[in-house]
Amino acid sequence: SEHPLILGIETSCDETGVGLVRGCELLGDEVASSVDQHARFGGVVPEVASRAHLEAMIPTVRRTLDSAGVEKDDIDAVAVTAGPGLAGALLVGVSAAKAYAMALGKPLYGVNHLVGHVAVDQLEHGPLPKPAIALLVSGGHTSLLLVNDLATDVVSLGDTVDDAAGEAYDKVARLLELPYPGGPHIDRAARSGSASALRFPRGKWGDGTYDFSFSGLKTAVARHVEEADRSGSPLVLADIAAAFQDSVVDVLTRKAVDACVENGVRTLVISGGVAANSALRALAEQRCAEAGIELRVPRPRLCTDNGAMIAALGSEVVAAGLPPSPLDLGTDTSLPV
Ligand code: KG4
Ligand code: ZN
Repeated sequence: SEHPLILGIETSCDETGVGLVRGCELLGDEVASSVDQHARFGGVVPEVASRAHLEAMIPTVRRTLDSAGVEKDDIDAVAVTAGPGLAGALLVGVSAAKAYAMALGKPLYGVNHLVGHVAVDQLEHGPLPKPAIALLVSGGHTSLLLVNDLATDVVSLGDTVDDAAGEAYDKVARLLELPYPGGPHIDRAARSGSASALRFPRGKWGDGTYDFSFSGLKTAVARHVEEADRSGSPLVLADIAAAFQDSVVDVLTRKAVDACVENGVRTLVISGGVAANSALRALAEQRCAEAGIELRVPRPRLCTDNGAMIAALGSEVVAAGLPPSPLDLGTDTSLPV
């Protein structure tokens, strides 16, 4: 194949991800997660995540090469998440990537984690039409991006001003005494509830921006739970989950479709852990169909943090002829797109 073989390394949060990609072809994808070590804290503990990356890194690289049947000398370049993410966690991945690049004598490319979440779609659905709009929703981010070119031209249209969408799911799940991470539990509970039984606020609805806000919604759910406790009235968990979820997915899909229409874009990509949400997928499908927009949602395995997404973006960066990163490449916890 004429495309170079890219090793991708991802350590921005609690997943040690290693991927092997050639062009739009996925050759290897192994992930070691420390999520179980964070569960009792109800959120990711940075120090715990960094240590887990350090332990998992070399075995995960080995496993990826073995399962793909690839010799290390076949690797043409190493791509790594330079940010955004947790400082210590990023540092483990970048340090490892530098070591591999040096040992193999191959170029190193530091890339943006958020853009990686978009690039990964090419491994499932082929080359991304240009331009595209991307909605990234996970425990760490809620971003709307205008993607003119994956390697060279991505514009941030909006972001959350407080909690990330997945973080809101996790915090509300905690209020409802559901396990961490709470997104899948709320998703499941909501299926037997009625979204119209309660009405929760829709943050930054119709404010003319592409920003999001979920902390007011979380507070409204907390107040509802407290009042039910005080008055002794029964809590209908399924209805709360459904009404909460309805508020989140209504605003997310509305702003994403508006961004497509306003920018004359015909393709929407939704990625990140919350893209697994059944209500988000259903409403996005409906609204995209109404607006004549092609909706692309990678399979859940590719939506959550992984190394293949970083290799997929590395592949684009190499194809665009961008220069490699210096070996003193740093990390940036709030790296812009
Ligand atoms: O992308 P991800 O695995 O990790 C990062 O945060 O980067 O996303 C995890 C987030 C968690 O907040 C989790 O609760 C949420 O994705 N999530 C969901 C669903 N599955 C995972 N949220 C809503 N519905 C789901 N089905
Ligand atoms: Zn992510």
